[in-house]
Amino acid sequence: MSALEAFKAQFDTRHCHLNNAGLSPISRRARDVVRDWAERFYQEGYFADAAYDLLVANARASLATLLKTAPSQIAFFSSTAVAVSQVAFGLRLKHGDQVITGADEYGSNLYPWREACARSGATIVEIPSGPGGSFTTESIVAAITPETKVVAVSWVQFQAGALLDLKVLGGICQRQDILLVVDAIQGVGIYDMDFTGWGIDALCGGSHKWLVSPVGVGYLAISQKLFSQLQPIHVGAQSFGSCDDPTQERCVLKVDASRFEPGAKASIEIMALGASIDLILETGVSVIGHEVRRLALRLRKALTEQGYRVICPHTKSDAALEHEGHTGSIVSFSATASSAYKENRNIYAALRANGIHAVLRGQGVRLSPHAFNSDLEIDKAVNILSPKSSL
Ligand SMILES: Cc1ncc(COP(=O)(O)O)c(C=O)c1O
Repeated sequence: MSALEAFKAQFDTRHCHLNNAGLSPISRRARDVVRDWAERFYQEGYFADAAYDLLVANARASLATLLKTAPSQIAFFSSTAVAVSQVAFGLRLKHGDQVITGADEYGSNLYPWREACARSGATIVEIPSGPGGSFTTESIVAAITPETKVVAVSWVQFQAGALLDLKVLGGICQRQDILLVVDAIQGVGIYDMDFTGWGIDALCGGSHKWLVSPVGVGYLAISQKLFSQLQPIHVGAQSFGSCDDPTQERCVLKVDASRFEPGAKASIEIMALGASIDLILETGVSVIGHEVRRLALRLRKALTEQGYRVICPHTKSDAALEHEGHTGSIVSFSATASSAYKENRNIYAALRANGIHAVLRGQGVRLSPHAFNSDLEIDKAVNILSPKSSL
């Protein structure tokens, strides 16, 4: 069995999950961790303490491997929004500072920055977006001024899958001493990430999309440079040590990124995330990513042939992107360029009535195959929507 076949065999095939940029099903390994640990907590309670601490540490190490950073630079939270908020509010922005972001960023990335700027008197510059909520590195560069302190952007745009080149952006930010903060939830697990090599200062994400894990874990990877500048915004017993640690009362902050985790964590979810990340590492991000983009391309081509308008967030042609291996993971489409919400809703309803999970996003219907999906599932979706006039 190939690595890809072994990955696919980890998923239940009863439903057709084509909204993996929204909420993916979890892998069998993750499910088994949840089952086993519910039973262990039921039977063993505190006697399982050391065992789950070790597995949470393993999950942190696996995530660090996936992102290419050190476990000591990772903190766990409950969602991406909490991780972004830790950075936005912990930076202590001040009047005159400028934050650059995209006008159509997902709310968990946009609102913490808007609010942190409003409270501190810093200025937020929201770059207007083109098709599918995308914007280019050039438009970010054009917005930079001597006051720019932070560039806060998504790696992969959630509406239509536009991909920013973080290596290029990281280099630009480093040369100008600007912090690069990335919401990477739509990319981690399907595109290779090099947190350290690309010069990213903070990377935020969550468990429930491409990492095929239960909802409820957010994470932050933080650079050594930013670590010392960032104030913990939530503080509790575990910011300093543990209840068994006599140094706790001296309130000296921990020396690694776990100082940003103030108290007890969602241990079962984190352990399950660790199991899914190990599966992804064993399979290979490039193997998974290649299959995701192959299936997405199959879908894009078939929908285009049926006369649908597939929103292309990229400036290059599909052929050029395919050649570079950069076709998107997300396929957003509508019946025509001027389709009204009602028409998109009909498409969504037809898919849903036939057992396919899609979602309405931006100006279209969004489908997002994962590597566990099959050609048959892609073809089923296209058949439901064919011919276009039948809807
Ligand atoms: C770009 C992006 N960021 C973050 C999230 C999730 O945010 P949170 O974990 O805060 O719910 C999503 C999707 O739900 C998303 O598309």
